[in-house]
Amino acid sequence: MQLTTNHLLGIKSLLPKDISIILSTAQQFKEVLQRPIKKVPSLRDVTIVNLFYENSTRTRISFELAQKRLSADTINFSSSGSSVSKGETLLDTVNNILSMKVDMVVMRHSATGAPHFLAQHIPAAIINAGDGINEHPTQALLDALSISEKLGGLKGKKVAIIGDIMHSRVAMSNMYLLKKMGAEVTIVGPPTLIPTYLKESFDVNITYNIQEALEWCDVANVLRIQLERQNQVLFSSLREYNRSFGITRKMLDGLQKEILIMHPGPINRGVELDSDVADSGQSIILNQVENGVAVRMAVLYLLSGRKESTT
Ligand code: CP
Repeated sequence: MQLTTNHLLGIKSLLPKDISIILSTAQQFKEVLQRPIKKVPSLRDVTIVNLFYENSTRTRISFELAQKRLSADTINFSSSGSSVSKGETLLDTVNNILSMKVDMVVMRHSATGAPHFLAQHIPAAIINAGDGINEHPTQALLDALSISEKLGGLKGKKVAIIGDIMHSRVAMSNMYLLKKMGAEVTIVGPPTLIPTYLKESFDVNITYNIQEALEWCDVANVLRIQLERQNQVLFSSLREYNRSFGITRKMLDGLQKEILIMHPGPINRGVELDSDVADSGQSIILNQVENGVAVRMAVLYLLSGRKESTT
């Protein structure tokens, strides 16, 4: 099984069959991760650099763990403490690292398109770990694996994506993936955080009514309010946001069904999600994190071009 791409820059450029290959390979790696010895030799002699120009907990650790489970050699770079502070450009930084014989680059950057730029200029395989407000493809893939495991697939499933849609690369990648795989999507939030062009561009529903969305959906994927990306006042206060769009236990108890609660993390507890929702049996937030390692193993393995068995 081979992907139709040499890089993972976004879900936008993947075919549905690429997504299916990544998800089925991730399921095989999940089985490996249940074993007493969780390490396989699939990427022995492959060298991967993790370039993080923006903060991360889950994605950075998950990629690093995935690389170790695959027996790759890894180098970790974060812009703080590097020569970026002396004015070195992105391309110079990467070319210097590549001259040390690196095969793959995992990259997070605050600038939209930074991994796409690199892919045009260097010979290594590039994996986007989040670029600005554009895409976070491995997050959408791990979200898809988590939904599929719980609901038996994606086709026809109803997913509400709730919150700060405008600044969310997670929302963007999820919309691309879910629509390509036949799910129904409703986006929910304050009108100031939902660009209306999304309705036609992605063929999604838009509502500003959280109750209506919860009653409709099978899955609520709740996003973080990204204050660091907002350069103007888009809602009156976090307290007001919580009152209008925060998910409470009472709201879930009032529904006629049990929906799944997802969140990419980090959670603003008491803003978009109350703690007794985030920590409840309906929440699959930690399953998402667990699935992140298997999904990233699959992406690294498939992009490495190795032909050996995953096991
Ligand atoms: N979900 C996610 O991207 O989390 P981090 O920012 O901690 O990597």
